[in-house]
Amino acid sequence: MRKRLIVSAAAGALALLLTVPASAAQAGPGAAGIGDPYYPYAGNGGYDVSHYDIRLKYQPATDELEGTTTILATATQDLSRFNLDFVLQVKEVLVNGRAAKFATSGDQELEITPARTIAKGSPVTVVVRYADKPGEVERGGFSGWIRTPDGGVVANEPEGSAWWYPSNDHPTDKATFDVSVLVPNGTQVISNGPLTTSQRPGWTRYNYRQTKPQATYLATLAVGKFDLRQDTTPSGLPVITAYSPDLGVNAGAAQASVERTGELVDWLSGVFGPYPFDSVGGYVPNVTTGYALETQGQIFYSPAQFARGANTSVVVHELAHQWYGDSVSVQRWSEIWLNEGFARYAQWLWSEHENEGTAQELADFTYDLHPADDPFWSIEPGDPGADHQFAGAVYDRGAIAIQALRNAVGDDRFFAILKGWPAERKYGNATIQQFQAYAERVSGKPLGELFNTWLYTPAKPPVGSSGVAAA
Ligand code: ARG
Ligand code: ZN
Repeated sequence: MRKRLIVSAAAGALALLLTVPASAAQAGPGAAGIGDPYYPYAGNGGYDVSHYDIRLKYQPATDELEGTTTILATATQDLSRFNLDFVLQVKEVLVNGRAAKFATSGDQELEITPARTIAKGSPVTVVVRYADKPGEVERGGFSGWIRTPDGGVVANEPEGSAWWYPSNDHPTDKATFDVSVLVPNGTQVISNGPLTTSQRPGWTRYNYRQTKPQATYLATLAVGKFDLRQDTTPSGLPVITAYSPDLGVNAGAAQASVERTGELVDWLSGVFGPYPFDSVGGYVPNVTTGYALETQGQIFYSPAQFARGANTSVVVHELAHQWYGDSVSVQRWSEIWLNEGFARYAQWLWSEHENEGTAQELADFTYDLHPADDPFWSIEPGDPGADHQFAGAVYDRGAIAIQALRNAVGDDRFFAILKGWPAERKYGNATIQQFQAYAERVSGKPLGELFNTWLYTPAKPPVGSSGVAAA
């Protein structure tokens, strides 16, 4: 509509006079979702965030969280209204310094109506003040805030951010972050990036700074009691590790794994190229969850991962995500194989390096482990569906697919692809199709059939396909 007006009036000197009021009158609301087929309400339309400044105060004893998040963004359309993804109780919203109306609607939507329409291309500063007990806030029986005996943790995928800061919650809108949290003395805070602290009477402020683009779900927050250690790798990269003092019998195994972060990130740099962030680390809070999460530069681990002893493999997996998932992120959640297939394959390379079985042996073993009628083979790793985003097939069949690629292009080209792709797409987003095109370019081989067989067929490929499980 607006375009037609501009075109029809373009001939005359009236063009400028006509288009300015017309565009203001036709400014519309930003969409409630960014357009991800798996999660219609994830992210929002109409603006692009460049920076989050998250300033919080937290009382572990009562779970009281209060704070202010300041968002720097640019409007990508004329906006009469826009959404943020957020679930906590909001007290006040300012847009470009003026009080804005706000309402909650839908699942995790905070709808903001600024006092004045925002023109496409102009900068927007949004200040959101809020206070809540995040552990008590649920959506569909789920809480993104994991309460611990001495605090709380947010680390989830694809959604969790809305339980501690308002955002455009989708991997395609990356931004830099400052996270500053005031806690009673004796309590520690973990977030992403290098750390500085400062003292107030009775309180300590933890300041974390992420200067590289970061997807919203990869921002993490943990507040509680931690044995927090700061060191540097031989190459000078800051390393932060932290352990709950209540890990019990898992404490030794957790430390014996996570304390090897510096060594393992150096080893992975040899495979994937230069480490993309300003700091590296991992933390193990006192939670009962079973998963780990590749939170950017500061990995979240559950104690359960160390229940059978040391587990350097999970550290390798999460560190591999720093390249495959964090620096290069999915364009849509359906592209999750680009994260999990490669992180699993990195574990197989580590096994190969440690003389505990080659990647080929692990691919064959995994292939044989699942008979043809196992539902395992009904999931397409290349488009598993929202309900199966983290199904075993995405990881294990996904890693077999990568072994198949290795067999098809040979080791030289294969390792050139593994290292070249994170450089090609550094700090960006990508689709599997783009990865396939890249692998075809580097190898000079058509790979459509291979990708189709291993990623997009809901059945077990025949024995010997791409050299997997050949006698
Ligand atoms: N990306 C995580 C991993 O390292 C998966 C986490 C999925 N689980 C969850 N509850 N969000 O494999
Ligand atoms: Zn993973």
